[in-house]
Amino acid sequence: YGGASGKVDYVFKVVLIGDSAVGKSQLLARFARDEFSLDSKATIGVEFQTRTLTIEEKSVKAQIWDTAGQERYRAVTSAYYRGAVGAMLVYDITKRETFDHIPRWLEELRAHADKNIVIILIGNKSDLEDQRAIPTEDAKEFAEKEGLFFLETSALNATNVENSFNTLMTEIF
Ligand code: GTP
Ligand code: MG
Repeated sequence: YGGASGKVDYVFKVVLIGDSAVGKSQLLARFARDEFSLDSKATIGVEFQTRTLTIEEKSVKAQIWDTAGQERYRAVTSAYYRGAVGAMLVYDITKRETFDHIPRWLEELRAHADKNIVIILIGNKSDLEDQRAIPTEDAKEFAEKEGLFFLETSALNATNVENSFNTLMTEIF
């Protein structure tokens, strides 16, 4: 961690947002600990985990915050977004309503976060291709229109999880 010296050059706060059960906590578990659980419990309040990456020979610590998609379990909004330089806006490719709610999450993000925050739209659960409800093209088009990065991921089989966090961290850097 942080190379031989253990020194951290930068700390970047990243927030995960999106409806309940889209897989935010499992994306974080995969990225931070390379773990995955099928019987993941709904998040209550706020949790965070860190992982240190090397970008252009600098040690960059990602401090990733995760809160509940369910309104009643959510953290205080303004505190959650404070100081965040990156955001992952997650939907479930098999659940139409989780994609339909993305504009609402984006509105909240734009109301509370720094205006220069880097945002990536994530279509999670790409392993469930046979249950897909949102065509990749639709999400890609939406992301382009809104100026967001976009990737489809699977926390289950680890597809694009590294890639999505790396995309965000490199862009912030
Ligand atoms: P809240 O904490 O309530 O906001 O939900 P969340 O977005 O954190 O969802 P969570 O990570 O707890 O995952 C919800 C369910 O989806 C769990 O049963 C996970 O195992 C499952 N899940 C998460 N990611 C994937 C994935 O990539 N593929 C599949 N097939 N299931 C997934
Ligand atoms: Mg969660």
